Amino acid sequence: MKTLICGIGQLLTMAGPDEPRRGKWMGSLALIRGGALLIGDGVILAAGREESVLRAEGASQARSVDVGGRVVSPGFVDSHSHALFAGPRLADFEARSSGRSYEEIAASGGGILSSVDGVRGCPEAKLVELLAVRTEKILACGTTTLEVKSGYGLELSSELKMLRALKEAAGRTPLDLVPTFLGAHALPAEMAGRKGEYVDRIVEEMIPAVARENLARFADVFCDEGYFTLEQAQRVLASAARAGFGLKIHAEQLARTGASALAARLGASSADHLDHASDADIEALLSGPTVAALVPGSNYFLGAAYPPARKLIDRGAAVALATDFNPGTCPCWDMRQIMSIACTQMKMTPAETWVAATINGACALGLQKTRGSLEPGKTADAVCWDAEDYREIPYYFGGLSVAWTMKAGTFVSGKIPAEAGPAHENTALRS
Ligand code: NIG
Ligand code: FE
Repeated sequence: MKTLICGIGQLLTMAGPDEPRRGKWMGSLALIRGGALLIGDGVILAAGREESVLRAEGASQARSVDVGGRVVSPGFVDSHSHALFAGPRLADFEARSSGRSYEEIAASGGGILSSVDGVRGCPEAKLVELLAVRTEKILACGTTTLEVKSGYGLELSSELKMLRALKEAAGRTPLDLVPTFLGAHALPAEMAGRKGEYVDRIVEEMIPAVARENLARFADVFCDEGYFTLEQAQRVLASAARAGFGLKIHAEQLARTGASALAARLGASSADHLDHASDADIEALLSGPTVAALVPGSNYFLGAAYPPARKLIDRGAAVALATDFNPGTCPCWDMRQIMSIACTQMKMTPAETWVAATINGACALGLQKTRGSLEPGKTADAVCWDAEDYREIPYYFGGLSVAWTMKAGTFVSGKIPAEAGPAHENTALRS
């Protein structure tokens, strides 16, 4: 049965070319007042002004859901997370609140390596369970596609355990989980002083094993001071590209390394963080497919300076926003918070944050042909907001709620308005 979503006060379609929105196009929401959506077989059949959607084939027999003037948007595409971890890092948090830095805490036994201990000691089934609980909360915040990295295993069997858990969790949730192999996240303690050898293992053992089991779509490297050098990143990514993975890089987060230019040179899908990006780095990201994926929740949480979002957009880069949800630098899975931080701290406009959190996020994952906008032929991933104006979403930080989240045409979270037709039979939605 087809579904008609009508009575939409503001429909953010994000309609446009299936490519990253840059510069002034980052403010273009293709917003329709008085809109409607017709959905069938999990796909958008028509999106536009209500009177024209009502004329579309099958609209008159569709079950009709009137949203009473609310805002409807595409589901968020969160292109960068480390959402698979065993537990929070509360001691790190407490130490930082007393003035110690991320780098100091990592050097004294906290940081990424303490999450590695957690994951290595956690059975695969427990990891699946933990992620399953998180995916419910993430859907409830309006995210319908989430990238998740490995990188808390740092040896073959634990990296495979993470990626297998991710695959298992993906089969249990309607949330689309996009797996990324991040073996080059940090040097594990048992390899201290042998970074070159660890990189050999990534290239010779881990990448082939992950590829053989088809467990990841992307590979990523934490290219930074104290982590992996530009040369090591290049080696890992070149080998990942040969194995068929898309590429991503943690670039210029703690220090400037030139990783964003490397990302551009390799045609990576995204260069992420960019806190210390120079003018030349920004220049390198102006052409080609590499999206500048900013994760300002981590800057907020670490109290670090923000990446140059305004400069990137004004010069014509394609900016995406992502949570970076992880236990060390951003324990936040909610894209609304990230949009709010982007507006208040990086001076992005509310419209730019919407583009960055939807279609440009999809581009950072190579999913722009099916995700990130509400256009005929695309997967029906939509969110209805308890709001009359799209600017309310980044404005009411910490508060505004999602009315419902729809994934591939099915209501998967929240409450459907009373006017809804047969979809109401889904009792899970009557929370
Ligand atoms: O994106 N920079 C590297 N990785 C994460 C932090 C992971 C952690 O601290 O556990 C980040 O900020
Ligand atoms: Fe990260």
